[in-house]
Parts: sequence; structure tokens; C-alpha cells
Amino acid sequence: MSSGQYFDDDPAVGSDPRPIEVALPDVAFTLTADRGVFSADHLDAGSKLLLMEAPALSAADKTVLDLGCGWGPIACVSAARAPQAVVWAVDINERARRLTAANAATIGAANRIHVADPDGVPTDVRFDRILSNPPIRIGKQALHELLTRWLPRLTPSGQAHLVVQKHLGSDSLADWLRTEGYDVDRITSRAGFRILEVRRRG
Ligand SMILES: C[S@@+](CC[C@H](N)C(=O)[O-])C[C@H]1O[C@@H](n2cnc3c(N)ncnc32)[C@H](O)[C@@H]1O
Repeated sequence: MSSGQYFDDDPAVGSDPRPIEVALPDVAFTLTADRGVFSADHLDAGSKLLLMEAPALSAADKTVLDLGCGWGPIACVSAARAPQAVVWAVDINERARRLTAANAATIGAANRIHVADPDGVPTDVRFDRILSNPPIRIGKQALHELLTRWLPRLTPSGQAHLVVQKHLGSDSLADWLRTEGYDVDRITSRAGFRILEVRRRG
């Protein structure tokens, strides 16, 4: 982790914007990150794995959530890959939200990437896909509250893909999600990360 208390809202550290290359087999662009946000110097390895390994977005994925968007790599790549989709990019960190909005404009998707704080998403919005590198370090209880808030907003056939470091509790998180009524599959286990696929049971 490169950015200290990344879960602080509107961190007070001075601004120092820097370009970040996001280079994937199908998408490449230069975005901007800054101090005071998660992974301010590079595309995080877990987020990159998620973007490489999660099932491709399809035409059915009309509404996508990047939960904990940081400077917006997951939201921007999702918008580039799914031109039909509206992407909600949610974060408590104001600087992260500003960066994501600027990055959305950089890739020409400002009209489809809706950047919001958690209270800024209309309550009737439902998500066909949730993609997230969730803020594990906020602690188990806060993480459970976060997921309890957003996962019920999946559409009936919707799926969430979460990337979690194994040593930060990916397996116990999967167990907890099962007790909450979700089907959970580990679709990738690599380089210390796991990608969990989460669906409503039944
Ligand atoms: C592991 S970082 C991932 C950032 C970004 N998606 C990336 O791939 O670089 C998790 C993000 O969750 C945000 N976060 C923490 N608590 C949150 C909450 N309650 N609701 C929404 N976002 C939150 C943090 O500010 C942070 O940007």
C-alpha cells in the first residue's frame, strides 16, 4: 500500500498529481493520481488482477458499480470496455472522487461515469455488476457494513467481483458472505490475491 490512511475522507496531505499508465491487453490510457489516495503511484496489483481476471462485462451489464473507486482505474476501464454501461464510482475520499471525475473526462466518459459519495447514489439504482478492490483495512465490522449496504443492490442476476488479499482475510470474508445469503466462488487465486464472485443465493 502506497498511501497511508487511504480510507480517510479528504486527506489533508498536500496535492502532488502524477500520471499513471493503465496498460491492459485491451485498454491503455494515462490517468492521474495524487497523494492522499490509495495506490497513488501505480495501478494496484490487486486492481490490475481484477481487471484482467474478472469475467468480461457484457451488453447485459448496463449499470456497474466501482465500490471504493480511488482515482478511478476500475471505473474508467469498465466504462471503456462497456460503452453501453453507466458506471457509478463511489468513494468517501473527496480527493479520490475529484480524480475519478477528471479521469472520466480524460477518457471521454464523463457522461457515463457518475462519481458520488456513498449517500449520493439514488436509492433506486441497482447494479448488474459490482467491481471492487474493497477497503479491507477499515476493519472487519466496517467492511461488513459496507458490503451489507451495497451487495443487496445487485440485480437478481447481478454479480459482484471482489479482489482481496489472501493474508487480509479473503477466505473468512467469503465464509461471512455465505452466512449472509450469497453464493461465493473463488474464481482466481494468484500472487497472494483472491477474486471472489458473489451472487444472490437462489
Ligand atoms: C483498496 S482502495 C481501491 C481504490 C481503487 N478502486 C483502486 O483500485 O485503486 C479502497 C477504496 O475504498 C474507499 N473507501 C473506504 N471506505 C469507504 C466507504 N465506506 N464507502 C466507499 N468507499 C470507501 C477508500 O477511500 C479507497 O479509495
